[in-house]
Amino acid sequence: MSDSASSSAKPDPSHASGLSFSKEPVDGGRRTWIAITCGVGAVGGAAVAVPFVSTFAPSERARAAGAAVRVDVSTLQPGEMQTVEWRGKPVWIIRRTPEQLAALPKLDPQLADPKSIRKPDELTPEYARNEWRSIKPEFFVGVGICTHLGCSPGAKFTPGPQPSLPDDWAGGFLCACHGSTFDLAGRVFRNKPAPDNLEVPPHMYVADNVLLIGEDKKA
Ligand code: FES
Repeated sequence: MSDSASSSAKPDPSHASGLSFSKEPVDGGRRTWIAITCGVGAVGGAAVAVPFVSTFAPSERARAAGAAVRVDVSTLQPGEMQTVEWRGKPVWIIRRTPEQLAALPKLDPQLADPKSIRKPDELTPEYARNEWRSIKPEFFVGVGICTHLGCSPGAKFTPGPQPSLPDDWAGGFLCACHGSTFDLAGRVFRNKPAPDNLEVPPHMYVADNVLLIGEDKKA
């Protein structure tokens, strides 16, 4: 039913976008969104290095079947992001710090859909329709594909003024293709090209620190 997604790599500081990936071989399906991500980084200029763990997991057989991906998040540190591949898409797992969590509700007035009420069945499962858009507050799970035209946004976790972002930036993601910005719950800011929040994929915890991405209790 599911395959283990256990391999990981620490960030390569030479890839400043924070969305660089491990030096493991990549297949054609991966290249599609990795290439998009690299393009985004180039357009966005200097980016912030984000503590990052990359995981490519399922076997060819599992990927072909669209199998759920099992991810052990026990080693993910606060402020780090891990990316896994599910059905050919990048899925981000972010372990948010208490400060990052505290910043989320303050952003509501700046967001297009702060309560994630748009397309709920498509974008936000019922168990993620809350202040954090997640099952456990600290762990956010989201599909890293912009809802505008499908680029993969770049991680911009460092708060404060920086190129292409507002001075009161609290940390989140910038889709440099057309400038859409998302907070650390994948919620899109107002008046941006992207119409919707990032998708929260079906997922569930099968152990205290083990996620299954691609299936949930409802399924
Ligand atoms: S694809 Fe993200 S803003 Fe256009």
